[in-house]
Amino acid sequence: MRERAHSFPEGFLWGVATSSHQYEGATTNNQWHAWEAQGHIKTGDHCGLACDWWHRAEADFDHAQAMGLNALRLSLEWSRIEPRPGEWDDGALARYHQMLMGLHARGLRPLVTLHHFTHPLWFEERGGFLAPDAVERFARYVEHTVAYLQDRCDFWCTINEPNVYATNGYLLGDFPPGRKGDLLADIRVQGAMARAHAAAYATIHRLQPGAQVGIAQHLNSFDPARPGNPLDRLAARIQALGFNDLFLDALERGRVNPLFARYVGDLAGVKGTFDYFGFNTYARDIVSFDRRKLTEGFGRRAIPPGAREGDPGTGGVFGEIYPMGIKRFALRAARLGKPIYITESGVADAADRLRPWVIAMGMRAMHEARAEGADIRGYFHWSLVDNFEWAQGWSMRFGLIALDILTQTRTWRPSGELYRAIAQANRLTDAMIATYLPDLMDEAFPA
Ligand code: BGC
Repeated sequence: MRERAHSFPEGFLWGVATSSHQYEGATTNNQWHAWEAQGHIKTGDHCGLACDWWHRAEADFDHAQAMGLNALRLSLEWSRIEPRPGEWDDGALARYHQMLMGLHARGLRPLVTLHHFTHPLWFEERGGFLAPDAVERFARYVEHTVAYLQDRCDFWCTINEPNVYATNGYLLGDFPPGRKGDLLADIRVQGAMARAHAAAYATIHRLQPGAQVGIAQHLNSFDPARPGNPLDRLAARIQALGFNDLFLDALERGRVNPLFARYVGDLAGVKGTFDYFGFNTYARDIVSFDRRKLTEGFGRRAIPPGAREGDPGTGGVFGEIYPMGIKRFALRAARLGKPIYITESGVADAADRLRPWVIAMGMRAMHEARAEGADIRGYFHWSLVDNFEWAQGWSMRFGLIALDILTQTRTWRPSGELYRAIAQANRLTDAMIATYLPDLMDEAFPA
């Protein structure tokens, strides 16, 4: 019988995504360290040593290489690089330079994120992105950092998930600064981050005209609970407008929906400031209209019965795990006319029940979207190794490789083997499905 496969073009990037605070350990000078010390993490956890990358990242780069990967996304810890305003720690930059050299030596192309949820405590104390000089401060950090690292990196992601940062920090209150119900601050922060991104984009291009600079936006699928009900449809639309679309509209058009326009500030300079579009997607929420949920745009979110969820208890945080969202959003991003990268996709799954399925469906989603014209150039799985999962502490395990945090021992999960097979072959085949997911052949390769 003829082999069936979802194949990808030569040069396609197969990577994993990571971030500084979640991996490095001892990142004690940022606002998350303070937040953890105040006891805000659900499990009472601290990030602690994390995966100890400050000392042993290279051992995990070896794992990434053994996985057949050719790319790795990591972030830089601004609080190490600029520990006090205007004071630079070139020792920290030298360590990052060494890490980037280590990636190149293993054939892994670095995609470097400049802000992944954390920043120096002093920046937070001045008001974070709502401070009047936040954009200049961020641009200055970017300038110093990129000038130092530019001989080892030309692929930059300015900001990770501005919408998650703003919504969790100002509307839901489970990220610092822990404000609850302040929808206007959420919108304002996203506006300020869009301007910070645009300033970083200009700064990097001044230093490195040929660099590829973009963002990693979180996109969540929102579907109406009753598709025929106009109020449910409206509620789902409002969720998408505030969470998914605001930043996207700023990048695409330099303006946002009139509902938000008066709060975001001037976004004219943001238009077109991206060389690629990167997005992270994990989940789907089913939304019904609820007039009591004023600050949440009248939307009540739920998980449909029978939906696939991550580890017990995580559904309420993450919704239904929905890798086919990759296709939906890649087709939407295609109209931007720029290369597309899936900068994160994954699942909290200690037992590795669902991760192989998430990976396989991600391949199908990318393959179908490419066939319909979306120029997807790479996929970065979240994540290489179990790591510190923000408000959920160590209770969620996202790694292709399991981590014992006490001994720092790594153990590959079966999904790591599946991902290796895909990356090495540059495609997902029916033989791989037969080995790793025999019951799901029809889902991975529909007739
Ligand atoms: C973030 C990661 C996080 C992952 C899983 C994304 O929202 O960028 O830092 O660990 O999702 O929740």
